[in-house]
Amino acid sequence: MIVSDGEMAASRSQGGNDELGAAASRLSGAQSVLVLTGAGVSAESGVPTFRGAGGLWREYKFEDLATPQAFARDPKLVWEWYAWRRETIAALSPNAAHVALAAMERRVPGFRLATQNVDGLHAAAGSRRVLELHGSLWRLRCVGCGHAVEDRRVPLPDLPPRCACGKLLRPDVTWFGEMLPQAAVAEAVAAARAAEVVLVIGSSQLVYPAAGLPEIAQARGAFVIEVNTEDTPLTPSADVSLRGTAADLVPALVPGLA
Ligand code: OAD
Repeated sequence: MIVSDGEMAASRSQGGNDELGAAASRLSGAQSVLVLTGAGVSAESGVPTFRGAGGLWREYKFEDLATPQAFARDPKLVWEWYAWRRETIAALSPNAAHVALAAMERRVPGFRLATQNVDGLHAAAGSRRVLELHGSLWRLRCVGCGHAVEDRRVPLPDLPPRCACGKLLRPDVTWFGEMLPQAAVAEAVAAARAAEVVLVIGSSQLVYPAAGLPEIAQARGAFVIEVNTEDTPLTPSADVSLRGTAADLVPALVPGLA
């Protein structure tokens, strides 16, 4: 069921038993919830999304910046792009949607938050049960010995940075053509199988395997709620699809926060 911005505003201002209310009550009664977030949850913090107007992949070619081949060809260029993203995001704060999800985690015993974002804003808002499916901008990993280390320095003193073993460090993020961190994916799939409710926020639902999690959950009878400013491939199969921004809608899904 799709609710437009206008209808949403109308139904919210009426305070009736609307779709938003139905989604909120499903969430408040659930003992196990899987939240899946994409770039849209951080948009109102000022983090650029990837697709759509102003999206990173409109301005930059991922082939030049986000593949292992690009890094092998020109590690300094790749690092300059990631250093710019680190510097931009270091100055930003979690928004009301991140904060609401941290509050939801405290209320729901079986809670997992799987994110495709590498910005660290869920943790900054207080979320603890976070599965970073695409890694983190704040972790560096050695291409030689594989050692991974958290490093929040902005700016990094030398580009490209090097490991103590002498080899290059890379951002510990998933690039195009690479496997996702398998432990995080396995936990996310297990959480999807166990979830009574799945809440998908600000994800274009085009990038797998993350985009497949709602279907896994739905096959086991989970109730799927989508929050997005636009329709996505998930919209037709979602039980409720709410049109609006994450910072506006997600707090309204957590009792006591709206
Ligand atoms: P996208 O940029 O593909 O999609 C962002 C989604 O958020 C879109 O569906 C928008 O309609 C929606 N959106 C934008 N602003 C919003 C707002 N304020 N509130 C709610 N929704 C909003 O980002 P992802 O789906 O996260 O992967 O992209 C998935 C992966 O593709 C990323 O993790 C990245 C990218 O290539 C890698 O780099 C491996």
